[in-house]
Amino acid sequence: MSTAAVQWLGQSFFKIQLQNNLVILVDPWKDFTPGNVLFPQGVAIDDADMILVTHGHFDHIGDTVALAKAATKPHFKVLCNFEIMIYLLSQGVPQEKLQSMNIGGTVTIQGVRISMVYARHSSGIGGFGPQPLLEGGDAAGFVIRSEQSPTIYHAGDTDLNGDMALLADRYEPYVSILPIGGIFTMDPHDAALAARMLRSKAVFPAHYGGTFKLPGTPEEFTEAMNKVAPQVAVHAPKPGEVVTITV
Ligand code: NI
Ligand code: MN
Repeated sequence: MSTAAVQWLGQSFFKIQLQNNLVILVDPWKDFTPGNVLFPQGVAIDDADMILVTHGHFDHIGDTVALAKAATKPHFKVLCNFEIMIYLLSQGVPQEKLQSMNIGGTVTIQGVRISMVYARHSSGIGGFGPQPLLEGGDAAGFVIRSEQSPTIYHAGDTDLNGDMALLADRYEPYVSILPIGGIFTMDPHDAALAARMLRSKAVFPAHYGGTFKLPGTPEEFTEAMNKVAPQVAVHAPKPGEVVTITV
């Protein structure tokens, strides 16, 4: 038996606790924008073993700088592309807490294999106010593989794309986390087509509602999944609710 505890914390922010108690944060953005309370009270996010950053947009780099500076575990790393690593260095995150990689690469930390995979999206950093928009490399997703836990694919921000069929063959993700909000990513119907291509057994919608009022809803996603891939379990938890995936 293998398990993983999965929490959605708003937008693309997921906290994933593997069976060996390793904690992985993906795109940690505490979306505290006034009027939006997506980030739930009382969820600990200061216990991460690693942070995965899919791309440079502010809702994905999020609070990585502060969390990385405060992280205390000796093996702690932020995994991201080279350009984002250079940005995080410039913001004072120590080099030893950073692990850069690129599409197709795999890094092993504490027995967990993290692979960076293609996303069809962009990745500029910052750009608000007087600060210029910085080069953020290519947008990515991540595949998390561990002996004790089901394989999990976090797609980051992406459109539906044909590489997902190859991803299914290459990594066999048991769980897929897919953006559904539309406007900046694929919508619920296209995310259902992605889920079918990925042949996952369980899916989570991400990157909907919130500050940007992204129109795709989990209800539309569930409806599309029932038509396109009815055998797949759809999990659309409230922010902070823990979903345990057991294989
Ligand atoms: Ni984005
Ligand atoms: Mn985004």
